[in-house]
Amino acid sequence: MHKTILHQSFTLSYQVEGEGLPVVLLHGFAEDGTIWDELTASLKNNYRLITADLPGCGKSPLPEIPKTGMPLEELANLVIALLDKEGIRQCVLIGHSMGGYITLAVAEKYPDRLKAIGLFHSTAYPDSDEKKAGRRKCIEFINNNGSPAFIRQSTPNLFAESTRKERPELITSLIDRYVTFDPTALIHYQEAMISRPDRTHVLQQFTGPVLFIIGEQDAIIPLQSSLQQTHMPRLSHIHILENAGHMGMLEDKDGSLRILDDFLRQY
Ligand code: MLT
Repeated sequence: MHKTILHQSFTLSYQVEGEGLPVVLLHGFAEDGTIWDELTASLKNNYRLITADLPGCGKSPLPEIPKTGMPLEELANLVIALLDKEGIRQCVLIGHSMGGYITLAVAEKYPDRLKAIGLFHSTAYPDSDEKKAGRRKCIEFINNNGSPAFIRQSTPNLFAESTRKERPELITSLIDRYVTFDPTALIHYQEAMISRPDRTHVLQQFTGPVLFIIGEQDAIIPLQSSLQQTHMPRLSHIHILENAGHMGMLEDKDGSLRILDDFLRQY
């Protein structure tokens, strides 16, 4: 069922399916809640799944953003507003990439609202100087060329080499899905990611279990950098998807489903 909440200047559209343990799935950059569709179709039989469209993505409009930007911490507050609206005291929160950055911001400020968290191709490390410079170039590219050119250029890099060769239709369909993404939203999210702090202390201090789903061929969040973080939590569940880059939920749907279901059924 599609629902909406208003929180401060934000209008958040989200979907609730199934019953049982509340599980919130947060999408990544240049995506919306439908990125999880193939997984939720099956997981909704066992869990109460909530997939939100972050502001400016999917069905959620982008509000007027002040000059100070739209920090990821504000989006963490929005996740809590959503839990409050649904009457959920504690959930499992899982974020894909940028959704994982928001997950860690929630875990930092509201740890008692989380039973467990999951980083799906994500990281607690901040951007390196090189990564920040790359994001500034990307903002310039979007300003000069628009979002269709940006989505066409950046999407193939999200996939493993083997996916690019053997299943190019996955890439074309993702491009088609997001080619008209709001360029202002893309720019705000790039800025928000540049400003996010190191959150490795959150991994160290969080008392619940942490799930890591890592793409062996992920060019955005490299395997080695993810592995370095897996020893930080008190309890880590670590899974490496061999045939995936940054889009395991599409590149290895069955593997992703198995991992999520095995993790969630414990809580
Ligand atoms: C994402 O998929 O959310 C982004 O690629 C994350 C990032 O750029 O750091």
